[in-house]
Amino acid sequence: MKTAVIYYSLEGNMDFIAQQIGKNAEVDLYRLKPQKEYPTGKISKYVVGGKGAKFGECPELINPAIDLSKYETVIIGTPIWADTLAPPLNTFFRDYDITGKKIVLIATHRGGGADKCFEKMKTHLAGNQILGNFDFLEPKQQQDKNINEKLAQISKLIGA
Ligand SMILES: Cc1cc2nc3c(=O)[nH]c(=O)nc-3n(C[C@H](O)[C@H](O)[C@H](O)COP(=O)(O)O)c2cc1C
Repeated sequence: MKTAVIYYSLEGNMDFIAQQIGKNAEVDLYRLKPQKEYPTGKISKYVVGGKGAKFGECPELINPAIDLSKYETVIIGTPIWADTLAPPLNTFFRDYDITGKKIVLIATHRGGGADKCFEKMKTHLAGNQILGNFDFLEPKQQQDKNINEKLAQISKLIGA
């Protein structure tokens, strides 16, 4: 059975990782898109996105429904916002019943909050088997020295 990669990315780091996974393995990529995208302005992104993350906002998404029954393994990826997951993932966890899956968690960040973020994601994933979690330091700018090793581990976990 196939693997789905379900993720959000505002500025391309998580998207970069999803694309790399897609190069190494046969996976279906689903990039979550809010109806109203978060701002990317230097200050506004932290004010608007940070507040949304802190308060557990669930923005409306424009993605068509995802048929999770096709997938044995689901990779879920988020940028870390205010030590937690980005709001579009809240909407995903609210709208989908995820049970009996093998799960790999991924977070991209600029230095902190991965443990808290993974713990929070796991609270939404009772009844699933967590195969592993991987965090990447700003991969789009090649700041993570172990990117290839981590990508290889992910490929191995999903049987690619
Ligand atoms: C609203 C907001 C809050 C953030 N909070 C954190 C944080 O708590 N810890 C951290 O290391 N990086 C934080 N960042 C940086 C992002 O996690 C990082 O740049 C990530 O790789 C962005 O992924 P993307 O390019 O896929 O959107 C934050 C960024 C934004 C926009």
